[in-house]
Amino acid sequence: MIDVPELALVALVGISGSGKSTFARSHFLPTQVLSSDYFRGLVADDENDQAASAEAFDVLHYVAGKRLAAGRLTVVDATNLQPHARAGLVKVAREHDVLPVAIVLDVPEALAWERTQGRPDRTFGRQVLTRMHRDLRRSLGSLAREGFRKVHVLRGADEIASAEIRYEKLF
Ligand code: CTP
Ligand code: MG
Repeated sequence: MIDVPELALVALVGISGSGKSTFARSHFLPTQVLSSDYFRGLVADDENDQAASAEAFDVLHYVAGKRLAAGRLTVVDATNLQPHARAGLVKVAREHDVLPVAIVLDVPEALAWERTQGRPDRTFGRQVLTRMHRDLRRSLGSLAREGFRKVHVLRGADEIASAEIRYEKLF
């Protein structure tokens, strides 16, 4: 059971192919989920244009802030493997007195690679995934220190598939 405050900024954390978007679709409303791919598409007409990431996250943070100001649970579907990417989310959450929560999807690199190879929209090489996996391992030790109030780590496909969200009342 994953306890999530009913108002929170939820950061999904996981390598490409770990199942973040799938998880988001099965547990949250489409409008609660802000995905980096979607925002890259909005600003650059191409969900894979990595050069558009800075602009895309700028807009994503802006929308997240508007949602949190209105008291709406917000989920960020991005890899969130870099400390600076997570710092941006913690900052937006703090600015709105909302708890930042991390849900880590930790799957074997080989499984993620297998899934990725079947996707026309993911064309990077194996080394990219290996680097992401290394970044994930590093992230695991630092999330709490970075300001995430709860860090839920789901290990393996089975644990991810059977996870359930339980909302905690704030008052
Ligand atoms: N998938 C699967 N079984 C799961 C979860 C995902 O077969 N339990 C498949 C999805 O259908 C998709 C691929 O694995 O084809 C990647 O899943 P996705 O949720 O898109 O992974 P993300 O972590 O969102 O990947 P990315 O960071 O590249 O967006
Ligand atoms: Mg995705």
